Amino acid sequence: MATKVITYGTFDMFHEGHRRLLERARELGDHLTVAVTSEDYDATRGKLNVQEGLMQRIEGVRRSGLADDIIVEEYEGQKLHDIQSREIDIFAIGSDWQGRFDYLSPYCQVVYLDRTKGISSTELRAERHGTIRMGVIGSGRIAARFVPESRFVSGVSVDVVYSPTLEHAQQFAAAHELDRACGSVEELFAAVDAVYIASPHGTHADYVRAAIAAGKHVLCEKPLALTADEASELFALAAEAKVVLAEAIKTAYAPGFRRMLAVAQGGSIGQVVSVEATFTKLLRAGREQQAPDGGAISELGSYVLLPMVKLFGTEPAAVRTTVFQPQGAEVEQFASIELRYPHGVGTARVGIGVKAEGELVIAGTEGYLYVPAPWWLTDYFELRFEDPGKRERYYVKFAGDGLRYEIGEFAAVIRSGALTSYMLRPEESIALAKMVETARSQHDSFGVE
Ligand code: CTP
Repeated sequence: MATKVITYGTFDMFHEGHRRLLERARELGDHLTVAVTSEDYDATRGKLNVQEGLMQRIEGVRRSGLADDIIVEEYEGQKLHDIQSREIDIFAIGSDWQGRFDYLSPYCQVVYLDRTKGISSTELRAERHGTIRMGVIGSGRIAARFVPESRFVSGVSVDVVYSPTLEHAQQFAAAHELDRACGSVEELFAAVDAVYIASPHGTHADYVRAAIAAGKHVLCEKPLALTADEASELFALAAEAKVVLAEAIKTAYAPGFRRMLAVAQGGSIGQVVSVEATFTKLLRAGREQQAPDGGAISELGSYVLLPMVKLFGTEPAAVRTTVFQPQGAEVEQFASIELRYPHGVGTARVGIGVKAEGELVIAGTEGYLYVPAPWWLTDYFELRFEDPGKRERYYVKFAGDGLRYEIGEFAAVIRSGALTSYMLRPEESIALAKMVETARSQHDSFGVE
């Protein structure tokens, strides 16, 4: 009987290492099946910045003439299924995976083949497109999460940091093994192609202006700006300078959130009529509790308003806000923002001194979509209907801190030359800034001792 061999890979920019791997895999038997990873699967397992689309990668494998059969790998656990259903005798893979697939050995022989030295898709991508050198402005909590996440995105390298206090920058550089702590933003700009701004909210706009003026692409933490005018101005500057300006609302770039939006818009729950989103975080002290830039709305508003903008659009007919600010507190601790749209209602709740269930409920004319807390790190959601027995569950991987998705998209947009991403368009960021501005400046406020 013929000996059947199978191997798996992304096979981006089909190269000599791939060819040699397939040649040797083929020699192990009489029939070789090559499984090429789908885009979705690569994204969910955190392999970002794959250059070629699935069809191109399949074409690369096909042209090698080494595969008898080509299939697509779409989900975790598929290998076991393929091996059994296709009656595979040998599973072969490169030695970079040594030991990782031993669990398949009860079902077939597992062979690790020496990897060809000196070549990889990662290196080819870097050669073709260069590495995007990034610098971090700010050395606080979120910056500390950004650096490790950036290491999951191939073709991006974070090497330098700036903080107004050089000592903080130096500590940060040492903790994250960066090349250098910069004593000025000018020094940082000179060393990079792009910057990530993770400074206090009120300082975002000035850093963005300076970075754009220096010709750098900018990924800026949310909120990009606290007024719509400022957000518009910054996007206009970026467009003029032909650099990418992206607001780092990580939820917008997460595969689970995007899938959830697609399901909500796909008609399964009918027409969307109501979106309710809640996000609270207990932040007792620190700049979030300080005027003029702190408060629940500026801290968390971008998250809860994002699904409204995505599902109802950028122009609510009315925004009504009630905030709770205890006497003695510098900023609001809780806010409920109601948005009226022609076809529906959005209710967004945020709190920095209040804890509530962080759910998202999207109600439609046929059913509703329920995303449990923490919905902003979307990895699970359900479709529910009048009949409680009719329920559909969706699981989508959300790897690590999730910042890798926004970094991956930022890099992809820089490379493509498109300048903006459909995942979070400039007009959507501007609308979010406008809603945050309106909610903060026009509200019914009350408080007690
Ligand atoms: N491979 C190999 N020698 C290389 C590169 C890859 O033998 N120099 C093997 C891998 O071990 C794997 C298969 O080719 O069995 C497909 O690997 P893939 O991850 O698609 O290729 P890489 O070049 O390693 O991609 P990346 O740099 O994106 O990880």
